Amino acid sequence: MAPWRGLIDSDYRPRLPVHPGTPAVSLHEGNTPLLYSRHLSGRTGCEVWLKVEGANPTGSFKDRGMTVAVSRAVEAGAELVLCASTGNTSASAAAYAARGGIASAVLVPASGVARGKLAQAARYGARIVEIGGTFDDCLRIARALATSPGVALVNSVGNELRLAGQRTVAYEIVDALGAAPDIHCLPVGNGGNITATWQGYVAYDRGRPRIWGFQAAGAAPLVHGAPVPAPRTDATAIRVGSPATWAPAIAARDESGGLIAAVPDAEIFAAYRELGSHDGVFAEPSSAAAVAGLLARHRAGRLSPGSRVVVTLTGNGLKDPDAALRADYSTTSADPTAPDVARSLGLAA
Ligand code: F0G
Repeated sequence: MAPWRGLIDSDYRPRLPVHPGTPAVSLHEGNTPLLYSRHLSGRTGCEVWLKVEGANPTGSFKDRGMTVAVSRAVEAGAELVLCASTGNTSASAAAYAARGGIASAVLVPASGVARGKLAQAARYGARIVEIGGTFDDCLRIARALATSPGVALVNSVGNELRLAGQRTVAYEIVDALGAAPDIHCLPVGNGGNITATWQGYVAYDRGRPRIWGFQAAGAAPLVHGAPVPAPRTDATAIRVGSPATWAPAIAARDESGGLIAAVPDAEIFAAYRELGSHDGVFAEPSSAAAVAGLLARHRAGRLSPGSRVVVTLTGNGLKDPDAALRADYSTTSADPTAPDVARSLGLAA
């Protein structure tokens, strides 16, 4: 079998907006695991699959679009890759810029970016600007600066390059399952991913799932139908009050016969712990919003038994170690002797 060489050099290339001369700036993103979840299937009476996007090179689905956006930026002679981010876009943009040999600058809210994501942006060599405001402020400023010469704005809003790359998640799912699932669950922040995922199924034309999007209850503008000026949730990746890709996200919901609903943080974090301890998948809290939403629909009797469901787990749990260590774990100490360790584990001597 030929080794995987990333999305631009894959069979999906004809579906991506690249030219014969576009340099492929790639970290071999895509081709992520689609795992059957025995635990969630058992709990819901459905067939539940997890698309583990945290297995991408920078640990989130953002790499799918970033390979396209940065390849085209390099082709166009850009000097600086710029983005606003709650963390994952900045990590991905910085990595692909480094790979492509150009500089990057990331605008992030001064509080609320998970530490692993900042660590990534730092080590990939980005200029990091912490802004005393929300993600929505960062994006407004990034868009204002995008017209400066040599700057390539790589946020997904209005960015066909990013969206085209992100559509590949649907192609991979259809290729793995042989057809589209009945339901596709995913977390929603700025609205780009729900848009791209839906468009991907439509473009691939082998069935269309209902798209079920979930926002954190304290940051659910698409559910309320109005921006949330001070969005609140500990699922920081989706702490977005004014989604820039608003209308296309609503279109994905409506055209698919799906929904966008809110899930409280308590349920998000319960699902987060459950995924790790029952499925061995460590996803970041925002990703778990999609699992929490699925379980809530099941509890409400709104999930038809036997449905085939795919859940996008958008980011890797390692990105947010503080969230992981905040609750529900303990350590015991022991002297450096086998009997003492046996005692602390309750093992027979
Ligand atoms: N899950 C994770 C882990 C994310 O990082 C994001 C978005 C989403 C879900 C929601 O996707 O915005 O396309 O609706 N993160 C952006 C960022 C905002 O800056 O990294 P969306």
